[in-house]
Amino acid sequence: MVSYKELGLVNSRELFKKAMEGGYAIPAFNFNNMEQMQAIVSACVATKSPVILQVSSGARKYANQTLLRYMAQGAVQYAKELGYEIPIVLHLDHGDSFELCKDCIESGFSSVMIDGSHLPYEENVALTKKVVDYAHQFDVTVEGELGVLAGVEDEVSAEHHTYTEPDEVVDFVTRTGVDSLAISIGTSHGAFKFTPEQCTRDENGKLVPPPLRFDILKEIEKRIPGFPIVLHGSSSVPQEYVEIINSHGGKLKDSIGIPEEWLREAAKSAVCKINIDSDGRLAMTAAVRKVFVENPAEFDPRKYLGPAREELKKLYMHKTEHVLGSAGKA
Ligand code: G3H
Ligand code: 13P
Ligand code: ZN
Repeated sequence: MVSYKELGLVNSRELFKKAMEGGYAIPAFNFNNMEQMQAIVSACVATKSPVILQVSSGARKYANQTLLRYMAQGAVQYAKELGYEIPIVLHLDHGDSFELCKDCIESGFSSVMIDGSHLPYEENVALTKKVVDYAHQFDVTVEGELGVLAGVEDEVSAEHHTYTEPDEVVDFVTRTGVDSLAISIGTSHGAFKFTPEQCTRDENGKLVPPPLRFDILKEIEKRIPGFPIVLHGSSSVPQEYVEIINSHGGKLKDSIGIPEEWLREAAKSAVCKINIDSDGRLAMTAAVRKVFVENPAEFDPRKYLGPAREELKKLYMHKTEHVLGSAGKA
């Protein structure tokens, strides 16, 4: 058993408390490899932002769970070397079983998500409570989820949103003891969140997605005042990346995300954690494609992963400074 405290990581409790009081959200960025981790840490050090390093079960399979844990441990040292000690949380994203959460807690994660949102309500309560009871013995924080996001989450996919039911939230958080709650108000995973048919156009002809259900968020805040809320599926799908990808041999069709102004608005409320993965994938892909097209003779991975890492760092700095408002809060 390795405690996250020995690794220099922190859980999310204090970070969420400050984010709630300060009207900003903590970024939760997914990582699967070294370049992503370096970009996240260097961007958050440069903007003095606390950060949640997020690992999905897909990431564990891809990169090896032990290596990811050591990378997070390395991230703490790396931040120090860069000259500013930011709080770093190592979080399991979309944990789907008690065993997976337990395994992560025992290998040094400071926070886990148990996603029972696809289960019948009582089963979600029972599974979440089981994880909370275990995690809290080690002061590890737990995120639960109520409501189902449209789109694909690991192996599970849903065609339509099932919005979070405000009537359930008091019962769920009191019976489970969770530290934060992910809700469904119209965001979804991936780079194709909406079809153009679902969108309207603004005066500049830009596609505007259907509004998020801020009314549901407000109602939830009323029922559980001061309780940290999490938004998944919060990539904005920057169109400049989509254009670079498509003009350099890519084929991304109808990639539409959540407008950044809406996320800025959400960050001012009880939303304390905002999950972003797809935007990073787009930034990396755009940078790599550009190198390959502009310099087809290039075959040193550092020559394309290096620019990808730079682009990612720019993206993450932009998110902490202009979207989540977490810059300067570390
Ligand atoms: O919510 C899903 C995250 O974007 C992680 O994606 O399961 O493909 O690693 P992944
Ligand atoms: P995006 O696909 O919108 O980046 O969402 C990521 C996420 O919710 C990870 O849990
Ligand atoms: Zn998610």
